[in-house]
Amino acid sequence: MKAPKFTAPKAIETMTVRQARNEHARLATEIAEHDVRYHQQDAPTISDAEYDALRQRFNAIEAAFPDLAQEASPAHKVGAAPSEKFAKVRHVVPMLSLGNIFDVEEADEFVSRVKRFLGLPVDAPLAFTAEPKIDGLSISLRYQKGEFVQAATRGDGFEGEDVTANVRTIREIPARLQGDAPDTFEVRGEIYMTHKDFADLNKRQAEAGEKTFANPRNSAAGSLRQIDPANTAKRPLHFFAYAWGDMTTLPSETQMGMVAKFKSLGLPVNPLTVLCHSVQEMIAHYRLIESQRATLGYDIDGVVYKVDNLALRERLGFVSRSPRWAVAHKFPAERATTILRDIEIQVGRTGSLTPVAKLEPVTVGGVVVSNATLHNEDYIRGLGSRGEPIRNGVDIRVGDTVELQRAGDVIPQIVSVVLDKRPAHTKPYEFPQTCPACGSAAVRELDEKGVADSVRRCTGGLVCPAQAVERLKHFCSRNAMDIEGLGDKQIEFFYEKELIKTPADIFTLEKRDAESLTKIENFEGFGKTSVRNLFAAIEARRSIPVNRFIFALGIRHVGETNARRLARHFGTFEALRQTARAAGDENSEARAELNNIEGIGDVVAEAVADFFVEDHNEQVLDALLAQVTPEPMEAVKNDSPVAGKTIVFTGALERMTREEAKAQAERLGAKVAGSVSKKTDLLVAGPGAGSKLAKAQELGIETISEDEWFIRTGQN
Ligand code: IVH
Repeated sequence: MKAPKFTAPKAIETMTVRQARNEHARLATEIAEHDVRYHQQDAPTISDAEYDALRQRFNAIEAAFPDLAQEASPAHKVGAAPSEKFAKVRHVVPMLSLGNIFDVEEADEFVSRVKRFLGLPVDAPLAFTAEPKIDGLSISLRYQKGEFVQAATRGDGFEGEDVTANVRTIREIPARLQGDAPDTFEVRGEIYMTHKDFADLNKRQAEAGEKTFANPRNSAAGSLRQIDPANTAKRPLHFFAYAWGDMTTLPSETQMGMVAKFKSLGLPVNPLTVLCHSVQEMIAHYRLIESQRATLGYDIDGVVYKVDNLALRERLGFVSRSPRWAVAHKFPAERATTILRDIEIQVGRTGSLTPVAKLEPVTVGGVVVSNATLHNEDYIRGLGSRGEPIRNGVDIRVGDTVELQRAGDVIPQIVSVVLDKRPAHTKPYEFPQTCPACGSAAVRELDEKGVADSVRRCTGGLVCPAQAVERLKHFCSRNAMDIEGLGDKQIEFFYEKELIKTPADIFTLEKRDAESLTKIENFEGFGKTSVRNLFAAIEARRSIPVNRFIFALGIRHVGETNARRLARHFGTFEALRQTARAAGDENSEARAELNNIEGIGDVVAEAVADFFVEDHNEQVLDALLAQVTPEPMEAVKNDSPVAGKTIVFTGALERMTREEAKAQAERLGAKVAGSVSKKTDLLVAGPGAGSKLAKAQELGIETISEDEWFIRTGQN
């Protein structure tokens, strides 16, 4: 999610009127834009907490500079004007919003403020209701003589959208009220989607190639605002009644009484609605609701406190966009507690076993989270990368209640375990010693000092299906073979269909397809054109620069840079292969040669040797090389007179461009630097050389001309 635009807010007290006016205007525009994204497009780009921060800042500026407050300001509106898709409904009683508070002190202030306004002593008894703040979308349902006649969204608070036909498909909303109700009866509440239904819907959407939703709230909003009610009918939506609008008569004098009436009429009400007689009771209920948040099965983002007595509410009235008689006590954003249901082990392309936390879904900062990384087995045990205790040394167990944190777009982390909630008889998690995908032994490699790697790896190489699919994905990826049309999904598909098992199979696919009766073009998701394009993309990669080919093999520790180093050193793939095979013997000359390549150390040399001596890999390579030709690269000479030296070029070069000079030097095994330092071995200076030449002379660094460079490097 995008961060709010203001990063270093200026203290409002020290603002000039002009500064305040500018920021006020900017915030008003920004808030209005977010309102449209949230209310009309069901696609917010910032979290609720970030939105609240914008609002708070905006309100604080208006409070300090009251002249800036204008009725027309977009930030005075609630939500955004209704979209054009639906007919408009004017709300007889506006649908307003709630002010937010974030801590116990503010709750205390809220209660005091209400009492002060009503002229009650601070210790006077006053009842408030406390109930969950449902994170869905507000809706107004109109019943005439007990019959459901109209449903409207909030819109901008004054005018909403007519979604009657869609709401009729929601089973929980009765078409006819059970029992006596006032003639005109407009009940309000929240429409929401459960975590489970949200996950199922997103899965279905993804499978159908349709847009997926960020969270249940957007999902509920999107579902309700379908043009065709038949589509809404397929989406399971729920409803809680907690407020009302236009009523011929009020059936009760209190909030609790109204809620009881709703229930008796067959409307769903939230079971966590209680009556409180003090701030302490309100806070206690807030804590209770917070502790149940993870297991409710639907999203809530705080607790709403309301004055229970409706006559007192009349007196309290509204200020700007929210009632004086109610407030939303929001949960802290970006953190949430939930339950760890399971630990799943994923096997990566290099055989790494990564534990993933499978969580009871929970929304953290506007995004539903059901997975979190657990990094490795030490991390689960409560140990950091240097063996130091993390989370106070507390281990993570299946069944634990854990606190999650998500910062920006970062993958959520488990920041702590709520030990009080650890179920009895849990055992420390036992990390598997074998690969869950192929059953081969999974081991922790020891480094030169005998320290175990934090990652446990499968030793199954290419026999391990998890690694095979991941290796194929890597092989085809953009910086490797770059085969267009063979993305992750297609690879998984072809692997499952047993059409592609190893990289060589990719290049025989067309031929086999031609000979086969079941054609790829007849599979779902393919067609004549896409298959033709795929085959063309594969053909185009029958020859490929050797460095990319090496990278594509997915050798451990050989990323793009090391692949380029190996390619530059050996020039051809065959040369690399021969040396690497011989390097299986640790004391061989071949191993020493690998080791001595600039940038390649013991660990990489060993990984390269291991790869090439492994029989499975040999077979895979033979088959692949029958299909693909790695284009040689001009080999770098290790024995050149400038190998391993650091060179600086300066002044005007006449026989080559600067770029050419750099490439040439690198090919000869030298490093090229941009400035002269003590580490410089050689300065090549052309006419007009200035400060670099002076510095080199000062440091006593050997300096030669461009011609001398050609002679020295034997290129004359
Ligand atoms: S009472 C005058 N109770 O929160 C407003 N609102 O931020 C009376 N909401 O627009 C609203 N749960 O959509 C109330 N238990 C609850 C609520 C609730 C969710 C929503 C509602 C409102 C928004 C305000």
